[in-house]
Amino acid sequence: MVTEKPQQDTIDSILVEDRRFSPSSQFVENASINNSHHLKILNKLASDDNELFWAKLAHNEIDWHTRFNKALDDSQAPHYRWFDDGTLNISYNCIDRHLIDRANKKAIVFEGERGDKQTLTYRELHLAVSRFANVLKMYGIKRGDRVVLYMPMVPEAVIAMQACARIGAIHSVVFGGFSAKALKNRIEDAAAKAVITADGGYRGGKIIPLKTACDEALSEGCNSVQTVIVLKRTAQDIPMVQDRDIYWDEAIKHVSDDCAPEWVNSEHPLFLLYTSGSTGKPKGIQHSSAGYLLGAIVTMRWVFDANDNDIYWCTADVGWITGHTYVTYGPLALGMTLFMYEGAPTVPDAGRFWKLCQDHKVTVFYTAPTAIRALMKAGDDFPNKYDLSSLRLLGTVGEPINPEAWMWYHRVIGKERCPIVDTWWQTETGANVIAPLPGVVETKPGSCTLPLPGMDVAIVDESGKEIEDADKGGYLVIKKPWPSMLRTIWGDDKRYIETYWQRFNNKYYVAGDSARRDKDGYYWIMGRIDDVLNISGHRLGTMEIESALVANEKVTEAAVVSRPDELTGEAIFAYVVLKGERPTNGIDADLTNELQQWVAKQIGSIAKPKEIRYADNLPKTRSGKIMRRLLRTIACGEEISQDTSTLENEAILEQLQGKQ
Ligand code: WTA
Repeated sequence: MVTEKPQQDTIDSILVEDRRFSPSSQFVENASINNSHHLKILNKLASDDNELFWAKLAHNEIDWHTRFNKALDDSQAPHYRWFDDGTLNISYNCIDRHLIDRANKKAIVFEGERGDKQTLTYRELHLAVSRFANVLKMYGIKRGDRVVLYMPMVPEAVIAMQACARIGAIHSVVFGGFSAKALKNRIEDAAAKAVITADGGYRGGKIIPLKTACDEALSEGCNSVQTVIVLKRTAQDIPMVQDRDIYWDEAIKHVSDDCAPEWVNSEHPLFLLYTSGSTGKPKGIQHSSAGYLLGAIVTMRWVFDANDNDIYWCTADVGWITGHTYVTYGPLALGMTLFMYEGAPTVPDAGRFWKLCQDHKVTVFYTAPTAIRALMKAGDDFPNKYDLSSLRLLGTVGEPINPEAWMWYHRVIGKERCPIVDTWWQTETGANVIAPLPGVVETKPGSCTLPLPGMDVAIVDESGKEIEDADKGGYLVIKKPWPSMLRTIWGDDKRYIETYWQRFNNKYYVAGDSARRDKDGYYWIMGRIDDVLNISGHRLGTMEIESALVANEKVTEAAVVSRPDELTGEAIFAYVVLKGERPTNGIDADLTNELQQWVAKQIGSIAKPKEIRYADNLPKTRSGKIMRRLLRTIACGEEISQDTSTLENEAILEQLQGKQ
């Protein structure tokens, strides 16, 4: 585990680390929380009585069908229950409650890669969600049933998620970039009754064959699936399976416009979202209804300073947690106008995001550092061509942002006018945990700043003791339960406890990241402490990729590590032992290409190793443990400083380093 402050590589970044940025007076003037006294009150309320703090917010922010009496039930800790005797409906809170004063307000504004546009007002969204919810009912989907979505980034993805929420079905969105095999595993783990997909999606000038992958996933096993609903997006000809597949537009012809919301308990699971962990099998993170919604709402207010005039754009795909909390649920719960784009940021050129910001007058823009770095690399001419004056607030998520990219975002996109909110959180936390309140908290490039009100975050050492010293790294933990926390891992309570709680005797939630705090108490995320990689802000388990490689008939053994990458944050580096001859110098471009395609097929393109090195063996200790840190050192091209005398076969080092 990393415990020391990392060496900064340039003088520039040292200077930047000590720089603080205050929000512009124009921003502060209009921000809803714009004086530090307000923040102090929130923090004081939260620390005086955390439960009461959340209870008050829950009463104010959620439209309840029946109100709750008790905020937190910790009798089964670390399985916590929030607002347990309350009932509500999430889609009612995201849509119906706005029909009184925002019926004709735009809820979703959409643009596709080819320039096609679509707009839905809250009234229209209400109709679309109600009808689709009736379709689900028509196909026998009931409260608690699982529905898998494998969709492009179009309004119908949000409509389908909201429709599930409306009838109390549990959605599990699978990112469209995942392979048929990954889709199949997720369908089977959740025993989904229906799959909602599309004939294709557009990205990078190509059609992503979603239905083809779906058919492949369903061709074997997946016996729980009775219905596949197919959205016509590309209108290409695709085979439809009789008695199983139905087109979306056909299905909605036969249902009524009204669908009363199904009132569910606060703890009713709203969705599952699979994420990578340190074993080969992705975990179905299970979220609740009320607590999750509350997290989404309060962070939209605090961190994104949401207001009724915003045109809000979060570029995340609905296949990730960011696309759940900050696309489908948070913005709609606040009655905002949500902008959605389906496609690549570089089509037709690297100015697309900035053109979209201009054309749609986007005010709040939230994206990943990887996208910022890629667009930065394309040059300032692209953003400079467009009028970005509508922007007032910028955000980042998913991975640490390097100070250089932060400064570019600040200068070239935000014109030094827009605060940048660097938001630290996870699929498991449901909503932002450490992030600035932009009208009050000064920012520092590369730091996610301070924990949000109500979030009791700490850094602890190996023994669980809190680290108070500045700049000393340790485990990032959360000491008190919070409403939007995950409830369990679907079907695996044991793994839930083992993964997140056991390390410190069920006392703290262990995030799996290491972090340090500087002298001002600001948090700096240092990296993962487990075998999870972060590629372009996407989480992938090393074991998942290793299992995929080993499943290839040519491969005997594989070890996967990451090394820093200028663009994607981290890049995947794989060491492979073949069944046959090892190629000379451990390099074979054709085989590497073949294995890359193989991994893409097993998991998805994002999991493709960037580099593969072939060796006769892996560096193992005499007890058979692979020395991963050593492999990481080699992948980074660094001098080996570790003690290698415990290696079973020290001579293998030359091969691993590509010297033989
Ligand atoms: C990393 C994404 C640094 C972290 C919302 C975490 C970050 C993992 C940040 C969760 C940030 C997320 N700065 N690192 N602002 N945000 N991470 O579940 O390692 O896809 O544990 O959720 O991303 O990834 P996940």
